[in-house]
Amino acid sequence: MTIQWFPGHMAKARREITEKLKLIDVVFELVDARVPLASRNPMIDEITAGKPRLLLLNKADMADPEVTRLWVEYFQGKGLPVLVLNSKTGQGINKIEAAAKELVKEKFDKMKAKGIIKPRAVRALILGIPNVGKSTLINRMAGKNIAVTGDKPGVTKKQQWIKVGSSLELLDTPGILWPKFEDQSIGLKLAVTGAIKETLLDFSEIVLFALNYYKDHYPERLQERYNLEEIPEEAIQLFDAIGKKRGCLMSGGLIDYEKTAEIVLRDIRAEKLGRLSYERPVQV
Ligand code: G4P
Repeated sequence: MTIQWFPGHMAKARREITEKLKLIDVVFELVDARVPLASRNPMIDEITAGKPRLLLLNKADMADPEVTRLWVEYFQGKGLPVLVLNSKTGQGINKIEAAAKELVKEKFDKMKAKGIIKPRAVRALILGIPNVGKSTLINRMAGKNIAVTGDKPGVTKKQQWIKVGSSLELLDTPGILWPKFEDQSIGLKLAVTGAIKETLLDFSEIVLFALNYYKDHYPERLQERYNLEEIPEEAIQLFDAIGKKRGCLMSGGLIDYEKTAEIVLRDIRAEKLGRLSYERPVQV
């Protein structure tokens, strides 16, 4: 899927989310563990309008585990509860129900004490930008026992609820947010991790961005994968060196950047360079 958001799309997405928020107690914000800031909507606080939120770092199986650990500390330090997930295998999702209960405990206890609500399941909505794994997670959480608990009053569209465990109900359609496009590096991070398909951006540009990052953070992975004796100072020289090693040459001995970029991008996607993260928390 190619993402192209226009102001009209954003307004519609926001309206849809606002409608869904009326039905739920807690928001599960899904982001890509490799780029937890770039894969977030910058207006999330405003959009979720004070609903309790659980941050889910998905695709953790592809992220650098050490960096993910730093992110968990970072978000916890900001008072945001966070869990690490692999929605493909289901790793980590068994912790979601308890975390959601904890988030609403105080409010529920008060309402119960006042007799406002009877004991009931916590209702949740999954929110995130395209391709972070929302459908994968919903399917995983639904498992084999999708139990539709009926429509809720006040909504025109049919909303279905998926029962998870004994005390959680999840809306079966996620809220789709738009990524932040103003910043060029955000687009590149989303492209390298596959959230934006290549058609929008030039292959070489994406790979140059990735090589520049690896040069500083994962030089040994590059050396190993491409059999390089040393890592050059400039990313473009690195591009040259990899092109040469892989025999991507045009007539006159010039490097075929397009072909080199294709090879490197394929390697990245196939995790030939290992588990990589593209953002690290800045210590302040
Ligand atoms: P969305 O609803 O948020 O748009 O995302 P979706 O679930 O469609 O997931 C987008 C891609 O990310 C899918 O891959 C999906 O399998 C993959 N994915 C989701 N969660 C995880 C995870 O925790 N780990 C890994 N490694 N991948 C994850 P795809 O290539 O589009 O489809 P497929 O080849 O898996 O069928």
